[in-house]
Amino acid sequence: ATGFRNVSFVYSGDLSSFFLWCLFILSLVQNNVITGVYPASPSSWLFVVIAILATMYTRSDPSMGLIAKIQEHLPVSDSLSIQCRTVVSAVLFSTLLWFSLIFTMRLCLKQLLSYHGWMFEQHGKVSNTTKIWAAMVRIFSGRQPLLYSYQGSLPNLPVPTVKDTVKRYLESARPLMSDSEYERMTTLAKEFESSLGNRLQWYLKLKAMWASNYVSDWWEEYVYLRGRGPLMVNSNYYGMDFLYVTPTPIQAARAGNTLHACLLYRRKLNREEIKPSRVPVLNVPLCAAQCERIFNTTRIPGEETDSLIHWQDSEYVAVFHRGRYFRLWLYHAGRMLSPREIEQQIQRIMDDPSPPVPGEAKLAALTAGDRIPWAQARKEFFSSGVNKRSLDCIEKAAFFVALDDDEQGMRGDDPAGNLDRYAKSLLHGKCYDRWFDKSFTVVVYKNGKNGLNAEHSWADAPIMAHVWEYVMTTDSFQLGYTEEGHCKGDVASSLPPPTRLTWDIPAECQERIERSLAVAQALADDVDFHVLPIQEFGKGAIKKCKISPDAFIQIGLQLAYYRNRGTFSLTYEASMTRLFREGRTETVRSCTSESCAFIRALEGGESKEVCRRLFRTAAEKHQHLYKMAMTGGGIDRHLFCLYLVSKYLGEESPFLKEVLSETWNLSTSQTPLQQVELFDFVNHPEYTTCGGGFGPVADDGYGVSYIIIGENMINLHISCKHSCPQTVSTFFHYQFPETTEKGKIETSKLIDKMSLLKLVRI
Ligand SMILES: *[C@@H]1O[C@H](CO)[C@@H](O)[C@H](O)[C@H]1NC(C)=O
Ligand SMILES: *[C@@H]1O[C@H](CO)[C@@H](O)[C@H](O)[C@H]1NC(C)=O
Ligand SMILES: *[C@@H]1O[C@H](CO)[C@@H](O)[C@H](O)[C@H]1NC(C)=O
Repeated sequence: ATGFRNVSFVYSGDLSSFFLWCLFILSLVQNNVITGVYPASPSSWLFVVIAILATMYTRSDPSMGLIAKIQEHLPVSDSLSIQCRTVVSAVLFSTLLWFSLIFTMRLCLKQLLSYHGWMFEQHGKVSNTTKIWAAMVRIFSGRQPLLYSYQGSLPNLPVPTVKDTVKRYLESARPLMSDSEYERMTTLAKEFESSLGNRLQWYLKLKAMWASNYVSDWWEEYVYLRGRGPLMVNSNYYGMDFLYVTPTPIQAARAGNTLHACLLYRRKLNREEIKPSRVPVLNVPLCAAQCERIFNTTRIPGEETDSLIHWQDSEYVAVFHRGRYFRLWLYHAGRMLSPREIEQQIQRIMDDPSPPVPGEAKLAALTAGDRIPWAQARKEFFSSGVNKRSLDCIEKAAFFVALDDDEQGMRGDDPAGNLDRYAKSLLHGKCYDRWFDKSFTVVVYKNGKNGLNAEHSWADAPIMAHVWEYVMTTDSFQLGYTEEGHCKGDVASSLPPPTRLTWDIPAECQERIERSLAVAQALADDVDFHVLPIQEFGKGAIKKCKISPDAFIQIGLQLAYYRNRGTFSLTYEASMTRLFREGRTETVRSCTSESCAFIRALEGGESKEVCRRLFRTAAEKHQHLYKMAMTGGGIDRHLFCLYLVSKYLGEESPFLKEVLSETWNLSTSQTPLQQVELFDFVNHPEYTTCGGGFGPVADDGYGVSYIIIGENMINLHISCKHSCPQTVSTFFHYQFPETTEKGKIETSKLIDKMSLLKLVRI
């Protein structure tokens, strides 16, 4: 390194232009770079380079000969002077060093994040291991992460052993089977475990080695995209507006703010400015992969399987109003439209008197019916000409907007009944006024209420709920309305009006539309829906009893089901596996021997002491199962994958076949409130969200979605089918502990044994 001293003098010009060039490139691909080199920051590269150059300046060689080696092998060595070569080699060395540091840090973080012991520790009793672990995670997880910063450091979902899964399965099946059935199942399971299971497991492990998640691609394809029945009711779910408040009664204005807030979210998303979701207590990051397809996405029907298509570019939305379709540009002269401008454009759509052309009004029924007829109709009637162009426009839109002609919400003389109708309207509408294939449809009603309907294959409900929390609160608290209820902001008079999409729908296609509509209408009419806001108690009261709120509600649902049907049922509770890369959901089988024992004791009139003890055991068991599911120790996804492997290999397994064909008569899911900081339940308790819900999963069963809001509120969304004589959504709710009358709770009149909360209160 002789002559190094003059380096800065001789090469300052070249070096600075080199750095400038680097910075330029960095700015071009900024987010990719920031995410790509996380947990280090791009500027730390400069730091490493300068540090290395500085140590060389002191005539020591930090690379232990490596720089010299690099210098020997530089391909351009002849055209450059010695000093220059030295600098280039040093920079190369620093870069290598920097990358290996990043790599090491990521590896460490990944190893750290594979530890899940913290989850199984008792509340308030954190072990020393966990404390040290948490500190290390903090060090290695860097500062100011972007949305996708942690993706490379998330651990892979582990494959449980067949033995464990079979054991857990048998344990979960025990309370639902008679002794002889259980014995038969045990024999089947043991046989599977000792023979075919091992082979299937081998293939599955092979898959787990190269796939980033051994479940998710199969889950998306086989559970969602290959489903041939209607998406409406069966798969799509909805999200509601605020329960008590409608920020403006003007439909166009509400649409203006809502759409603008969606765009703000999308901008944050594109810039990766949305903070990665974390587990609240210890800040452990969750996978963000599902965020990629929120916008610009649609599901395309196919004859065998559907597909999901995502576009990089889509600067408009498709709007449906009174049977007509419009394209509404959201940008003008390179900037986003203001809420006021969107309001004006929406108003223009609403003022447009032109009638729908034949077939146009009910067109979207195709997306509500069976998939195969839709795939065929799409191929026959929508693959050329104006129809193709217009369909393209809907499918490539950022998202879909439906302006409804009716009023909805908890209002009028029959608030509870109207709330139920509101839920049904969001879930299926008129079967032709939502585009069920679109990643999501924003619905705005005549009285200013809004809501959304979301397709399920591209992501799970927490992702959409995250968007919706942001949209609701931004709409009301950030954007706001003028005193007359209009959006704020100026209007550029030069905005071109939204354009009508043109269609030429032949009679034959109209017939197909009618057929799809008939299928969808029958399905929609069969849905019995009930929304139950419980305002008399909530998380606060349950936590005081030192019980997990989720376990409390789950056992309450078990009890309600038992009172309704007189038996227990296999119960599905969705939990997430986003602690792992590309994780989606896992099933918690929340009907357990422990919960059954408690319910039998309670209904059998056992003493309060006995019931209380059994209740606690049941709640603890539930918590344990939930944690196991979150940390890769679930049952159902593993069995599902083993089943698929057996199908690929052409092997028949009576055990897997039986397990996979079980029906879930009680299907439940909690939507957690994620961005609590956006709400203000203390000063604005009326601005409370109502959560969302989904349709009944089994023909004979109940679907229950619930959300825990603040300290004093729980909302249940209960669904079932009219065609099943044993299920009634409102009856189910009568049975839910603490509730006696529709929408009301009369705690004082409750007999002791009806009240779980009283029971566990010490
Ligand atoms: C944890 O560390 C504290 C001191 O920091 C020590 O007093 C305590 O005994 C340790 N606990 C365990 C279980 O090792
Ligand atoms: C969706 O389209 C918008 C507008 O063209 C674009 O800026 C954005 O990058 C796209 N989003 C994604 C996730 O590709
Ligand atoms: C679901 O309900 C139906 C109708 O009552 C019943 O026949 C079936 O056994 C139930 N399934 C389970 C798993 O409980």
